[in-house]
Order: sequence, then structure tokens, then C-alpha cells
Amino acid sequence: MKVGVPKEIKTHEYRVGLTPGAVREYVAAGHSVAVETNAGAGIGATDEDYRKAGAILLGSASEVFGSSEMIVKVKEPQPSEWTQLRENQILFTYLHLAPDAEQAKGLLKSGCTAIAYETVTDVYGGLPLLAPMSEVAGRLSIEAAGAALKRYAGGRGLLIGGVPGVQPARIVVIGGGVVGTHAARIAVGLGAEVTMLDRSIARLRVLDELFGGRVRTRFSTIDAVEEEVFAADVVVGAVLVPGASAPRLVTRKMLSSMRKGAVIVDVAIDQGGCFETSRPTTHAEPTYELDGVIHYCVANMPGAVPLTSSHALNNATLPFGLALANKGFAAVLENQHLRAGLNVYRGRLTYKAVAESLGLPYSPIDQAAA
Ligand SMILES: NC(=O)c1ccc[n+]([C@@H]2O[C@H](COP(=O)([O-])OP(=O)(O)OC[C@H]3O[C@@H](n4cnc5c(N)ncnc54)[C@H](O)[C@@H]3O)[C@@H](O)[C@H]2O)c1
Repeated sequence: MKVGVPKEIKTHEYRVGLTPGAVREYVAAGHSVAVETNAGAGIGATDEDYRKAGAILLGSASEVFGSSEMIVKVKEPQPSEWTQLRENQILFTYLHLAPDAEQAKGLLKSGCTAIAYETVTDVYGGLPLLAPMSEVAGRLSIEAAGAALKRYAGGRGLLIGGVPGVQPARIVVIGGGVVGTHAARIAVGLGAEVTMLDRSIARLRVLDELFGGRVRTRFSTIDAVEEEVFAADVVVGAVLVPGASAPRLVTRKMLSSMRKGAVIVDVAIDQGGCFETSRPTTHAEPTYELDGVIHYCVANMPGAVPLTSSHALNNATLPFGLALANKGFAAVLENQHLRAGLNVYRGRLTYKAVAESLGLPYSPIDQAAA
């Protein structure tokens, strides 16, 4: 198959759809890969690195779109990209179509077949192409908290791990899924005192085993959240209720009783946030202070570390991308996990929740592909 990798054009997006290492895998499997010049600049991968991996370098996005049967990207296509997609072309990338009617219409109009990273599933019932970004965001959340706790940044002036004889920071993680677990790993590693709250007792059991008693676990109730938040130096919001906005677990009233200079990192901000006082921020201005509490609410945290994020994403997408390259659309019909990723097929919406959220007609795959 002819695979194409355009340079990402969304503002401040430095990741790349295929790393040179991934290109080498596609080429070894017998595919040709066209990469736009400078596509890897954001992760320090040069055109020469791609050439060595076996890629053909092309000077413009239009040449890449025009010559490829499958496009592999990171972010959802931007308006100038929708118009370059065409019938019979496969698009493999993050789409997040549910809140984005304009993009959905653009993709439907193009006639392309679009598989969204965020809805591809795995045998464990998880979302394997979202998980690596949650791992990155979870680990970064503690780095962000450490920076915001510094006195000059408005924080309490506290070192996360303390020193012998001086107590470390108390870090509370609400939500013990992928983000929460990775946040806790880093917090524990730095020597913090860590408490995790979750609504799932099964998950709390796993966490208790995983951390061997090094993390306190608590069932998440209003009382528990309130008590923990009042005593915390850092609160990480890592809650997810699939298909819904994040529940607002920490109210403004609770915030007023928090320690001055405490830090909240609302990783769930991309789903609306789990603190009543959260509003999305950017890497350019990641924090703001409200009621004496520093808020960090960056909606695309993995974008800060595109090198790590691109490799983590490529590791996860590679088997699915290769299956698509090897078999084309047949891979979608054969593989239930790729099938779960299919959002758009030749002008039809094939993902029920997306169609419902956009108020557009839904076509089950079998019907659409018949
Ligand atoms: N800001 C970013 O850049 C970024 C990056 C990656 C992920 N995220 C977001 O982080 C959030 C968490 O993602 P994840 O991959 O860890 O999800 P996950 O499904 O792995 O974990 C979510 C956890 O929240 C728990 N939960 C649900 N309701 C709860 C409640 N009331 N109290 C306590 N826990 C509760 C669930 O039981 C589950 O264990 C999502 O909103 C995701 O979109 C943001």
C-alpha cells in the first residue's frame, strides 16, 4: 500500500504520525511510505532519518495526500486537509468527531474511510490508542505540580519529596485509571505521600496490590474527596466516566478551604474537568490562581513532550496501521478492534455515539459496506 505522512499543521502540534522507526516497519512489510519534508522536525527526526528508514520525501502536503492510499496522522484533519482527502482513501488518526460537526461534514463529503485512534478497542475492553497519551499525561501531571508548587510560581514552596526530617507533599489523585496510576507512580517515586480515590472497588484492589501499600486508597465519596482535598498540597483530577463529561467532584466551596498555594492539576479538563473552577489552559500559559489555589488545566498535555508522545503513540498504532496497510479495508471487516475504530465510511457515519451526538444519520458498518 502507498502510505502517506503529512506534517501536522494544527497549532502547537509537534508530534508526527509515523516515526522513522515505524516507517522502517512499513517498508519492511512491503509498503511504500511518502513523508512530507520536515514532518519529523518537532521530534528531531530529519528528512535524512526518514530517507534512511526507506521513506520517499515529498515537498508538500498536497503531494502526500495526492499520492497515498492511506494517510497516517496524529491530530484530526484541519479544513485544508479535509478537502485533500478522497474516496477510497483510508485516514488513520485521532478524530474526536462527536463535538466537531464541521470536521464530520468535511470527512463525509470527502468520501474517505476514517478510522479514529480514540475508538479502536483491545481484547481487555480498553482503548489502546488513547492509553499511551494517558500514561504521558499522568506522568507529566506530577512534573507540572512540582513546577507549580515552587514559591516563585505561586505555590506553597514545597519540595514534592521533602528531605530527611521534613515531610513530603501530600498528593491526592482522584481517579485510579491509566492517568491516575501513572501520576501515582511518579509521585511515589519522588517520595510523596500519595492517596488515590476511585469509585471502583475492583480498581482500588488492583491499586493496593500494585503499589504494595505505598499508596493509600479510598473509595470516592463526597466526604472522602472533601477530607482529602482539604489536607492536600496537590490534587490530580484523573476521573473518566465513559461517554460523559467529567463529574465536578471538587466544588468552589471546597477550594476555599484548601491550603493556600496548593496545586490542582485537572488532567480531565479535556472532558470538562473535575474541579468546578477549572478552565482549559495552554502550554504557553499553563496555570492560573483562583482562591489562592494554583490551577494547571492544559487540555493537550502530551503535546509538551512530542518526542516521548510520538514514540508511545507509534508503538500502539503500529500493529493496527500495518494491518490496514496489509489488507486495506478488509482489515476493518475482519478485526473487531479496528472495526470499533471506524467512524466514517464513504460518506456515512458508522459510529453510533458520534452520529447521535451530531444529530446525523447512523449507518452500521455492514449496511454501509454492503
Ligand atoms: N489533559 C490531557 O492532555 C489528557 C491526556 C490524556 C487523558 N486525559 C483525560 O484524563 C482523564 C482520565 O483518563 P484515563 O485514561 O485515566 O481514564 P480511565 O478510564 O483509565 O480512568 C478513569 C478512572 O476514573 C474513575 N472514576 C469514575 N468516576 C469516579 C469518581 N466519581 N471518583 C473517583 N474516580 C472515578 C474510574 O473508575 C476509572 O478508574 C480522561 O478525561 C481523559 O480524557 C487528558
